[in-house]
Amino acid sequence: MRVSVFGAGYVGLVTGAVLADLGHHVTLIEVSEEKIALINQRRSPIFEEGLESLLARSIDQGRLSITNDAESVVGSSEVIFIAVGTPPLPDGEADLRYVRQAALAIGRGMHGHPRQVIVNKATVPIGSANLVEVWVQDGYREVHGRAPSSEWYTVASNPEFLREGTAIFDTLYPDRIVLGADEAWAIDRLQELYRPILEQSFEPPPESPRPNGVTSVPVVVTDRISSEMIKYAANAFLATKISFANEIANISERVGADIVQVMRGIGLDQRIGGRFLNAGIGWGGSCFGKDMAALTVTAEEYGYQPRLLHATQDVNREQRLLVIKRLQEALKPVKGRRIAVWGVAFKPGTDDLRDAPSLTIIEELLRLGARVRVYDPIALDNLRRLRPDLEVEFADSAEDALDGADALILATEWPSFAEIPLATIADRLTRGIVIDGRNFWDPEAARQAGLQYRGIGR
Ligand code: UDX
Repeated sequence: MRVSVFGAGYVGLVTGAVLADLGHHVTLIEVSEEKIALINQRRSPIFEEGLESLLARSIDQGRLSITNDAESVVGSSEVIFIAVGTPPLPDGEADLRYVRQAALAIGRGMHGHPRQVIVNKATVPIGSANLVEVWVQDGYREVHGRAPSSEWYTVASNPEFLREGTAIFDTLYPDRIVLGADEAWAIDRLQELYRPILEQSFEPPPESPRPNGVTSVPVVVTDRISSEMIKYAANAFLATKISFANEIANISERVGADIVQVMRGIGLDQRIGGRFLNAGIGWGGSCFGKDMAALTVTAEEYGYQPRLLHATQDVNREQRLLVIKRLQEALKPVKGRRIAVWGVAFKPGTDDLRDAPSLTIIEELLRLGARVRVYDPIALDNLRRLRPDLEVEFADSAEDALDGADALILATEWPSFAEIPLATIADRLTRGIVIDGRNFWDPEAARQAGLQYRGIGR
């Protein structure tokens, strides 16, 4: 199938590369010359496990290309994905400027053959498909002076649920595919596009072997609005699960319970499920915060106060600063103390700093007058580039961050941190204080190593 994808960002790149690898002919449409140049050199503009080799293979086999000339390619595409950024505006609402530009370009390039499915892949506010329709018409009208026939195209919603770090795996082996459209022919077209995934009939790429037991993928066919809502509801539920774990952690530590045991005890109940119940400094990343804010704004626009959504966000906001309270309890004044921070990425496996809890913690440490020395295996370059305002020292290694520090805060649970013996941490820290924001270490082992150790909720 001929497919074009607006936006060579996270979602667009992964979707485009996977669809090309499955045998479709994909053109990425991108405005940034820098990204185009990188991709043409078979290099990925973002860090994502396995993406670079997938891109290179698809480009070499002639199934994937990239251009900035939208109008020349969109006209011949059977499926057009809009996967551009929708950054939050100051009030939390999503900025649809790039979606509009894409939709206008689609309208300008449209000529009725083939019939086209325009798919919103970007997470857009509920009801945005209607806007895309209007913008497509505007684009066509600019060129032809009249509206296009409504027979020629339809706008569908097909949200992605991919996690950074496992995006290719999540695209090939999703828990479900959600297709929202008001026209049966559009649903048929998208089912055809995804058939290799739905039926698991493709040869798995070497980097992403098929997990045992995955023989097919369920599809949820629904109307457009419900599909848009599914994306927000999924992220809101996951964020709520984490905030719930954090709230129970806060009660657990007051009564003397261990949150890790408590969550294991509830997670084995199949109605609850054990994932996304890790207590700590809370959630961050490009999606949860933005989507929670957008869903809250939508609810309020319709005169509904979403109390649970507010509570989930409130718990998360406070949770980030809990490690500072712990630090103050152990160290008393933080002013003039040297604090090591391990991990700045919002989670392991990525160099992404968007809405990272570590940044809130570092800002607060600096505000309190601490000297902060940070280490992250891959995200330090981004920290240097994106937050030059943060006056922190950059360490060359995890051990190096500890030298001369009074205390260590762990903000991201990179697996490589487990390779450093607790005894080494105890030796290097002048006061041996460890505040574990991700319940990464075993408290007993840490104490035996001579550390003054505090986790979250235990
Ligand atoms: C998320 C959704 O999982 C994905 O489906 C959606 O498409 C985009 O948003 P992502 O942002 O990549 O994906 O990260 P995810 O793995 O979900 O983690 C989000 C945040 O929650 C991270 O900061 C992580 O550290 C935190 N988290 C996760 C917890 O604090 N506890 C947990 O138990 C799980």
